[in-house]
Amino acid sequence: MNEIDRKRFRESLRRSTANDQFIDRFYDRFVGQSDEVAAFFHNRDMPQIKQKLLTTLEMLADTTEGQPGLGMYMEMLGKIHRRLNVERRFFAGWRKALVETVAECDSEFSEETRLAWERAIDHVIERMLDLTS
Ligand code: HEM
Repeated sequence: MNEIDRKRFRESLRRSTANDQFIDRFYDRFVGQSDEVAAFFHNRDMPQIKQKLLTTLEMLADTTEGQPGLGMYMEMLGKIHRRLNVERRFFAGWRKALVETVAECDSEFSEETRLAWERAIDHVIERMLDLTS
């Protein structure tokens, strides 16, 4: 992610999370995509997962590549999701639900904002799915 995209992503995340409903709306949208997705979240501690995702997004917006800890954290997230058997196809729906939620919650949403989010998310997904790590 270049610095312009990171700034757009960071500022859009700030505007989006200013809306208290942001993370709830994202999970409602994502879980509502299919019974298969809903099954992953059955009987899970949703408040905790929501808080962790928010913290992760903030970390991604604030951390530059190569900063200590980021790689290890991504690797751990990848392992958690692999253990849950989250296949690649589910990540596309995750990305779609997140970008749609941002479009709804960010009052200054634009095509540039969309691209910045998509690039940030694609990068994270590739890091999480990197089986060699
Ligand atoms: C880039 C995409 C994703 C990110 C950044 C992400 C992030 C996270 C984070 C931060 C947690 C909390 C982990 C912890 O306990 O420390 C989590 C948990 C979880 N994620 Fe994801 N996630 C992504 C995609 C997905 C997808 C596509 C699915 C399923 C279809 C999924 C299903 C879950 C489930 C079921 C948990 C709860 C695990 C538990 O209760 O221990 N995630 N995710």
